[in-house]
Amino acid sequence: MDLIEYINSKREEHLSELKEFLRIPSVSAQTEHKADVERAAHWVAEKLRASGFESVEIVQTKLHPLVYAESLQAPGKPTVLFYGHYDVQPAEPLNLWTSPAFEPAVRGENLFGRGTADDKGQVHIHLKAFEVLRNTSGNLPLNVKVIVEGEEEVGSVNLWDFVNSHRQQLKADALIVSDTAMLAKGIPSITYGLRGLNYYQVEITGPAQDLHSGVFGGAVPNPLTILAEMIAKLHDRNFRVVIPGFYDDVATLSRQERQALHSLPWKEREFRKTVGAPALCGEKGFSIVEQLWTRPTLEINGIWGGYIDEGAKTVIPSKAHAKLSTRLVPDQDPAKIARLVERHIRKLLPKSVKVGFEVLSTSKPWVASYTHPVFQKAIHALEQGFGKKAVFIREGGSIPFVTQMHDTFKVPCVLLGFGLPDENAHAPDEHIALENYFGGIKSVALFYQQLASL
Ligand code: BES
Ligand code: MN
Ligand code: MN
Repeated sequence: MDLIEYINSKREEHLSELKEFLRIPSVSAQTEHKADVERAAHWVAEKLRASGFESVEIVQTKLHPLVYAESLQAPGKPTVLFYGHYDVQPAEPLNLWTSPAFEPAVRGENLFGRGTADDKGQVHIHLKAFEVLRNTSGNLPLNVKVIVEGEEEVGSVNLWDFVNSHRQQLKADALIVSDTAMLAKGIPSITYGLRGLNYYQVEITGPAQDLHSGVFGGAVPNPLTILAEMIAKLHDRNFRVVIPGFYDDVATLSRQERQALHSLPWKEREFRKTVGAPALCGEKGFSIVEQLWTRPTLEINGIWGGYIDEGAKTVIPSKAHAKLSTRLVPDQDPAKIARLVERHIRKLLPKSVKVGFEVLSTSKPWVASYTHPVFQKAIHALEQGFGKKAVFIREGGSIPFVTQMHDTFKVPCVLLGFGLPDENAHAPDEHIALENYFGGIKSVALFYQQLASL
């Protein structure tokens, strides 16, 4: 049977198996889900074994296991390394989901559930592509190594140990990843740039313990006020980050690249609709696409402290906390930026409080050329799967592994994204368009098949 016909005949089977994967609440950030994360790793390993990978290992790390598999039965053919993650973001706030986060449900043209787009649905596209290739031709047409990890959503901190100790084994002619989005529905996209990310946590301590705000207020430092004042000083009116040196190493966009980015079929109206805010704001002097894909930012991701439950409690809290992060672009160095951020924050805070500053994770920015012949194969396969020519885009999100791999092995990284920008990754009602899930399986299967002749 023809490959495409075969894939079409398996739609229901594929979808119900994906739902099984999605029912495992593999939330890497939450200790209560440790066993579920483990279960998801076993689930992935099982599927790889079933689709003919001759060696499948569950590798324990300091936190969550990763799955490593190999099928090296195509002598003389190229070798690819596929990377994805089986862990997901927390589902909270649960009450904002139309149907429960871990009870996948089809509504209209979409499949809803945590992990549908990011990244279980996209990992499953590859698992099924491997399986259909094996079922239709008896074996995989090329050599495949697979890493599916369980710590991406918490910064891939322990993955690097594994990569470092398996450098020889992980060698491949190309890295293949599906953990990004398409520019818009109907526009298959290949991502050639990602921002990096430094994630920080700040703890400010004033009084040794919580104090009655009537008895003590007026004479003692309030860590919440001090934190708020500090945060308010991190940007200027033009939404530029006011940290000395922050922009020093930012590469300017070439004229050609700016032109290429601006001629993409990117719709500002769609973007505004997805955001849903009364107005947008961003660094002055740059288009929205430039702001999102090519400029560094500093964002406050969470602030807490003091009393936030029902009614009033007159208290001066002992501590205030904030989580913040900087998105990084070429040629910023994450270690240098971390030093600049810490130094500036300490400088902004008064002597009346103690400051704890921690870097939780870091990931380098990445941008690469797409001239290697593997990209022609990708364009061709996407065109067959979606009936449309693919575009090359950059994105604002971060995938620590991609940069690490690109730096270490200098291999072409092919990022085939099957999500969409409005599919609520990391938010309630995350979903994936069924069209892209099924189109993804076709494209990816064809891609692997055609890569064999590279
Ligand atoms: N799949 C995303 C990254 C992504 C999203 C890339 C959209 C391109 C477009 C990934 O799972 C993710 O969420 N990464 C985190 C970084 C991580 C270190 C927590 C991110 O970008 O915030
Ligand atoms: Mn992801
Ligand atoms: Mn994510």
